[in-house]
Amino acid sequence: MTLIPIHFISLAILLHFVAAQQNNGSVSVGASLIATPDAKPWLSSSGEFAFGFQQVQGKDSFLLSVWYDKIPNKTIIWYPKGGPTVSTGSKVDLVDRRGLVLSDPQGNEVWSSGNFSDFAYGYMNDTGNFAIIDRNSDNVWESFSYPADTILPTQVINLGGVINSRMGETDFTGGKFQLRLLQNGNLVLNTIDMDTSDESNSTNSGFQLVFDATGYMYILRRNSEKANLTTEGSLPSGDYYHRATLDSDGVLTQYYYPKNPTKDTSWKVVWFVTEDICKAIDSKACGLNNVCSLDDNRPYCECPQGFSLLDPKAPNGDCKPDFTLSCDEGELNHGGDVFDFIELNNIDWPMSDYVHMNPSNEQACRTSCLNDCFCAVAIYRDSQCWKKQLPLSNGHKDPSKNVKALLKFRKIDGPSGTGGNNSREGEDKSGTGEYISRRSFIFMGSALIGISVIGIFAFIGVINMCFFQSHKKKAGTPILSSTTVETNLPRFTYQELVKATDGFKDELGSGAFGTVYKGVIGTKIVAVNKLETMVQDSQKEFKTEVNTIARTHHKNLVQLLGYCDDGEKRLLIYEYMRNRTLAFYLFKDKRPNWKHRISIAIGVAKGLTYLHEDCSNQIIHCDIKPQNILLDDYYNAKIANFGLAKLLMINQSKTNTGIKGTKGYVAPEWFRNTAVTTKVDVYSFGVLLLEIISCRKTVVFDDDAEDAAVLTDMAWDCYQEGRLDAFVENDSETLDDFEKLITFVMVGLWCVQENPSMRPTMKKVIQMLEGEIEVIEPPCPCPFSVTS
Ligand SMILES: *[C@@H]1O[C@H](CO)[C@@H](O)[C@H](O)[C@H]1NC(C)=O
Repeated sequence: MTLIPIHFISLAILLHFVAAQQNNGSVSVGASLIATPDAKPWLSSSGEFAFGFQQVQGKDSFLLSVWYDKIPNKTIIWYPKGGPTVSTGSKVDLVDRRGLVLSDPQGNEVWSSGNFSDFAYGYMNDTGNFAIIDRNSDNVWESFSYPADTILPTQVINLGGVINSRMGETDFTGGKFQLRLLQNGNLVLNTIDMDTSDESNSTNSGFQLVFDATGYMYILRRNSEKANLTTEGSLPSGDYYHRATLDSDGVLTQYYYPKNPTKDTSWKVVWFVTEDICKAIDSKACGLNNVCSLDDNRPYCECPQGFSLLDPKAPNGDCKPDFTLSCDEGELNHGGDVFDFIELNNIDWPMSDYVHMNPSNEQACRTSCLNDCFCAVAIYRDSQCWKKQLPLSNGHKDPSKNVKALLKFRKIDGPSGTGGNNSREGEDKSGTGEYISRRSFIFMGSALIGISVIGIFAFIGVINMCFFQSHKKKAGTPILSSTTVETNLPRFTYQELVKATDGFKDELGSGAFGTVYKGVIGTKIVAVNKLETMVQDSQKEFKTEVNTIARTHHKNLVQLLGYCDDGEKRLLIYEYMRNRTLAFYLFKDKRPNWKHRISIAIGVAKGLTYLHEDCSNQIIHCDIKPQNILLDDYYNAKIANFGLAKLLMINQSKTNTGIKGTKGYVAPEWFRNTAVTTKVDVYSFGVLLLEIISCRKTVVFDDDAEDAAVLTDMAWDCYQEGRLDAFVENDSETLDDFEKLITFVMVGLWCVQENPSMRPTMKKVIQMLEGEIEVIEPPCPCPFSVTS
């Protein structure tokens, strides 16, 4: 009985509080909002904008956001980066010295605006900006400085600013598109993993994207000139709301909506930018194997015949083939009996070709593809034939080119009986899985639209494109045999790379496989790896390996962009990673975030799994260590220098001479006369994983490998004695996630088992790390025999 009055009192206090905490747009320190379907938001003084929780359509979850409160569908214009949604009962507080803090019903912090030594109040401005204001009336934090996918009049984007589309209309997680104001003053709308040179050379470049109070958008240049985005006179006269949103389909649109609608109305478009959204080489408007066309200037995706959506609810996503292409014996020589073509006109997938036959004729093109078990589609145009493998990327309709796409399909069940929809597990290389990167290896078109400060839309990728195309190896002689493999990887001369790297001036790092230098090609920053003198000097071998590497695409692998093969001089050109190496990230004073480290470990494991199992040629890395793991702009792990071991070693499968790995990471079998398998990478991964967990370096001694295994010994001792707190040096963030911690340590210990056959495969490692399968107690990773 005593409970009732207490409840009643607290409810009364709460109601009083809710009423008292907001006044004319200002929000007092200590105020809070609870996520419930009928929760009242904090309103701006005119009542036009609201800050609070909006229920995500059809779900029991809420988004902390700012919206137009007088528009019936309450269009959302701001939410915290990444659009975290929370469940009923979650809370946002305006905490003294802490600013806005969003926490779930259990009290765990989900998001916060950051710490401020002191502030006076919060304010929901009539501009749509939610600000935290100090005693001098200065904004210490404002939502306008952290835009989501929308900007509003009076909002300004400074150099380095980013707007990110959402995934879908009601899915606020980061989508595929970004609008960025680069340091060089170019405004670029591009897909999310584009890497654009930030080198600036113009003294009169843009420095702000301005959305002025009257609804006009322009780029403000350093000399105060304006480059208009909204053309003069294009705005309706009268009282309107204005917003510009990077829509989830990648179209940047400026909209307006009447403030006093007379009848049912909706957002109307002032202008939008979509130019060539389907055709842009790095466009991800549609997923893999999908085909993009423009429908009312919006990208429209449709799976080609014989393919269906991987996720029926995601029409812009990936398509999977409804049949298997197989190189199993028995099917190899029955191409024409088993397969036939569907002819599609004016559709092209400009990437993923592995053979280019020039000249060719249509019949030769058909026959060649039909009898080639790897060939999924042949593109015939201008007496040339391109054979392509799955997954097909950048598919689009292009009536301007006279292209014929010959898409293979299975007429009957093949001799091995793998027809129909039942693609066998482990065989599906269709690329619909997560293991295949969507990233295409030529980045020439990666900028969809570059809006130059002069105010014209210009493709900033054009310079790159010319540069790269002029370096494409010209196929002088007709290649009609499918055994001659040509990739369209750009080739450079040594002199060009001397120039690109300014005489190999800026060294980024060095390792077992050579030294890496920073360089600039076109406007793109690249990493140039000058390979050590090869053991195998055969030209053919180098070409073969480079082709293998070039065909390797995975989001956790660094992409090869070009190469040089000038006599003795052999160099490989890779994408440049701004966030440097894992070694740099891991071993610094402050421990990096545990969640980040978890995702880096899983990323490396995925990249390795792909090298070991998923690509057509198995690749053993042989030198997995933090220096060979690079981090992209979003701290995704990317494995570097794969595929080089084979080039630089006499005999990879049996050796006790050509050890090329790095001590401390090298598996014990390197020192024995046993076969080297993918399990050497598993061992090195184990050491790496223990480093990621503990943020400690494995100790490397010069003379003897046995001494090198110090970190693994320490991990074992701590694990056995139940002292993982010591292993992670009492790091509370890691210890708070104890279950994950102990799982990761156990997996690490399994990977560094002395006996290679005891070590799990990388695939199994991922399953264990992701908690899909239980990890059993590992045995001691102690040496089982002493060898010299
Ligand atoms: C609201 O925004 C306007 C325009 O940016 C600004 O002038 C005004 O000072 C803001 N109000 C408060 C209380 O911050």
